[in-house]
Amino acid sequence: MSTLAVYPGSFDPITNGHVDIIARGARLFDRIIVAILVNAEKSPLFSMAERVEIAKAVFKDLPNVEVDTFEGLLVDYVERRDAQVIVRGLRAVSDFEFEFQMALMNRRLNDRIETVFMMPAEKYSYISSRLIKEVFTLGGRVHGLVPDMVEERLRQKVTKK
Ligand code: PNS
Repeated sequence: MSTLAVYPGSFDPITNGHVDIIARGARLFDRIIVAILVNAEKSPLFSMAERVEIAKAVFKDLPNVEVDTFEGLLVDYVERRDAQVIVRGLRAVSDFEFEFQMALMNRRLNDRIETVFMMPAEKYSYISSRLIKEVFTLGGRVHGLVPDMVEERLRQKVTKK
């Protein structure tokens, strides 16, 4: 049986922590879908089209990584895609409580789907999309923490303001 995993998130924007987890997931599972949640935030910095475009560009050389979008309940999307696994990243103990709640709620909603937690490389353990946006907007350096394409797009957005 081939194993299909779904890595869901807002990815506003995708960070090198996400990229690290996806690359690890691509080695572990036959296929992994990066599933970007539609309307995760009321006013995202990156549009859905941009987030899809960036993720597709970042993973263009990994043939078993697919980029897709989803709306509604995650477990319904996972079921529709015939996937068996939800992948979530755990950076620190502080992530655990919320992730544990989500994993158990998702299990209650659909017992056939397993959540698998993966740890990113330590060097990415403190990064979040929210911090990246805040630091960059205030003039801080995010080089090496996000894909080059994200850095470039952030620069364009800040200079446009
Ligand atoms: O990157 P994020 O914001 O941490 O991702 C959160 C996400 C998208 C995984 C979560 O909000 C989600 O699954 N949303 C879809 C709606 C849903 O299924 N909610 C119940 C989760 S228990």
